[in-house]
Amino acid sequence: MDETFEATLQNVIDQKSLKWIFCGGKGGVGKTTTSCSLAIQLAANRESVLLISTDPAHNLSDAFGQKFSKDATKVNGFDNLYAMEIDPTSSLQEMIEQSDQNGMMGSMMQDLAFAIPGVDEAMAFAELMKHVKSMQFSTIIFDTAPTGHTLRFLSFPSVLEKALGKLSALGGRFGPMINQMSSMMGGQAGSQEDMFAKLDSMRQVIAEVNSQFKDPEKTTFVCVCISEFLSLYETERLIQELSTYEIDTHNIVVNQLLFPKADSNCEHCKVRYKMQQKYLNEAHELYDEFFHIIRLPLLTEEVRGPEKLKEFSKMLLMPYTP
Ligand SMILES: Nc1ncnc2c1ncn2[C@@H]1O[C@H](COP(=O)(O)OP(=O)(O)OP(=O)(O)O)[C@@H](O)[C@H]1O
Ligand SMILES: [Mg+2]
Repeated sequence: MDETFEATLQNVIDQKSLKWIFCGGKGGVGKTTTSCSLAIQLAANRESVLLISTDPAHNLSDAFGQKFSKDATKVNGFDNLYAMEIDPTSSLQEMIEQSDQNGMMGSMMQDLAFAIPGVDEAMAFAELMKHVKSMQFSTIIFDTAPTGHTLRFLSFPSVLEKALGKLSALGGRFGPMINQMSSMMGGQAGSQEDMFAKLDSMRQVIAEVNSQFKDPEKTTFVCVCISEFLSLYETERLIQELSTYEIDTHNIVVNQLLFPKADSNCEHCKVRYKMQQKYLNEAHELYDEFFHIIRLPLLTEEVRGPEKLKEFSKMLLMPYTP
């Protein structure tokens, strides 16, 4: 194997310029376990680390055995590791409720949300990124939702662009009436301008963040998979998608590997081991040239709680030998 691509995630720890790290892959392969472990190792080597789950089925709380919310909360047992769980789809409703006293702008925003698919998610993401950037963490790790939704955020600038266009068309036609009515009804005149300003600042945030995501000095994507046909197939698709979006990726974590003892008489384990080795070899053939391939064993117990995660996280930096 090429020496420059050793089988660990040490390269991520060593690349101090990295600001954004994504962990992604198919459901249940170990994204949360990997992102939590990587966050733990990074925290030992950075000033401050924030772990964010954007998966609506949140599991950072489960992994650490501690309730997290949409505010960054310190993880028990660590000085400089924080976590938050956000729902990427809920915030437009919140925004409508917050920004609107009379319902008029609200219904306009609601129309907008229906007219342009993804606009609510894009706004939620922009809000999140603005907030995250203001907190000044050294490194931010995303535990992303299963493949498919992972890269949607890259289309957000154009989604918001469209929203701005739509809103300005709507505003031109109905703006004066809306303002008049809202002041009649005791609302604030000019709330429409506020909305414009807000959308535009979101667009700017998203555009800036996306350009950082495309900078390999600042951003990398860690692919997590298991050694099975479907999972490797999905990983290849993910890698290709990442390349069309110009997002750097050079680490593949192969999780849940079996290492039956030579004298084991577990027929099931031996058969599965053979299958895993076959796909593992294929992965090496395909990716050795450009990727670090990190092999992680399937433990007998699930990896839950800070202590188990700490133990597990060491294996990210040490090639596993059974
Ligand atoms: N190498 C391993 N050995 C033993 N248990 C593991 C290992 N990796 C993950 N697990 C366990 O498997 C379960 C699924 O792992 P995890 O939550 O990390 O997957 P995920 O990819 O985040 O899943 P989801 O797509 O549902 O978010 C968890 O209970 C976790 O503790
Ligand atoms: Mg998960």
